[in-house]
Amino acid sequence: MSASKNALLATFKHITRRAAGGSVPQITKPILSAPMNGWSGNTLCAAVANHGGLPVYPIGYYTDPDAIVKDLQSLVPLLKNIGTDKEPVAEEQFLPYAVGFVSFWLERQGPELLYRLLRGEADQPGRTSSPPRVPAAVWFAFGDYKPYLKLVREHGVKGTKIIVQVGSVTEALEAQEENVDVIVLQGTEAGGHGAQRVAPLMTLLPEAYHLLQKRANAAGSKLKMPAVLAAGGISTPIQFKAIELMGASGAVIGTGFMPTFEAPGPQNGKDILLAAVDGNESTVRTRIFDELREFDWPQGYDGRVVRNSVTRREEEDLKQHGRYEQTGQAAFKLLNDERTGVREDYKRAVKENNWDLLPLWCGTGVGLLNKQVSAAEFMDSLLDNKQ
Ligand SMILES: Cc1cc2nc3c(=O)[nH]c(=O)nc-3n(C[C@H](O)[C@H](O)[C@H](O)COP(=O)(O)O)c2cc1C
Repeated sequence: MSASKNALLATFKHITRRAAGGSVPQITKPILSAPMNGWSGNTLCAAVANHGGLPVYPIGYYTDPDAIVKDLQSLVPLLKNIGTDKEPVAEEQFLPYAVGFVSFWLERQGPELLYRLLRGEADQPGRTSSPPRVPAAVWFAFGDYKPYLKLVREHGVKGTKIIVQVGSVTEALEAQEENVDVIVLQGTEAGGHGAQRVAPLMTLLPEAYHLLQKRANAAGSKLKMPAVLAAGGISTPIQFKAIELMGASGAVIGTGFMPTFEAPGPQNGKDILLAAVDGNESTVRTRIFDELREFDWPQGYDGRVVRNSVTRREEEDLKQHGRYEQTGQAAFKLLNDERTGVREDYKRAVKENNWDLLPLWCGTGVGLLNKQVSAAEFMDSLLDNKQ
């Protein structure tokens, strides 16, 4: 696949590595691994980057910027094909991954960490051969990202790309007005959090793509056509082909990477994902775990998760009372009457990886996953158009 034909690969063609005939693009496969707290750590990010994809490192609900900077520094030696201090790649300015911010959390926490990453603090300390390298892109999802665009553009290295994940056509058009480089359309199929009132990719993607293109092509328009990506439920090559036909130049995949060998999640969780059938029946969208964890997600968002005792309890409440009678905490406690308290129960469930009580976030595409493979094998399988 040539970079010039694919809008996503063209966007990242300046991220290069050394090869026999000179510099060649580092990102050669139109696949992004989603930022997933607890499910996409350095090993998975390195596996995706080393195989030509673009991993999005999960910044998530961070409280300790130092810990994140340190963790990112330990990602650098795992990345192949990038220059070393002894043998730098000429003019290398970027590291081949994106950092994934949750916008509303960034607002709560303040922009210190973003500044530090834009200054190159995530590169290996003590390098002397070139100025510190910075992440190739900054990803924003969930909440108002607009205040941070100026910051990236004014304080970041020129060429740092901006990726925004959205859940509606309107938000996609707004992101185009903000001149972002990549727009990710997240459908209701997606695992993890997303907009509560969101369309399936089957309509969200083509409608948004069509309007974005129409506005970019209008006479005298100052709007540019961003690279458009699809997110939600994509597990197989035939789906990948379908999103390409609907205008996407690549996919953001979360759930598909979760059962891979390199994902950091526990094996009992991976086994549940591989055994799940009927992706819509075995998952459900809910806010109950955010209430339980007291993460205080803004209104308008929920998350898709594997159905378990907690979500069944919530659904029963809904049936009986016509509304959610219990808060998440109370529902959790009711399941465990014999135990002492919600926090203790939650801590115990975390310790035991008890997915009957904990949220195993995943998308409807889980029903299409049934074999544990490496991240590279999964990426190759997606791009195999023979199916
Ligand atoms: C376990 C898990 C955690 C996630 N965490 C985040 C996150 O921290 N930030 C974010 O922008 N998206 C997050 N997402 C959503 C992804 O960005 C993406 O939209 C989704 O994974 C795509 O759908 P799929 O999981 O069906 O492939 C998460 C998804 C999963 C499955």
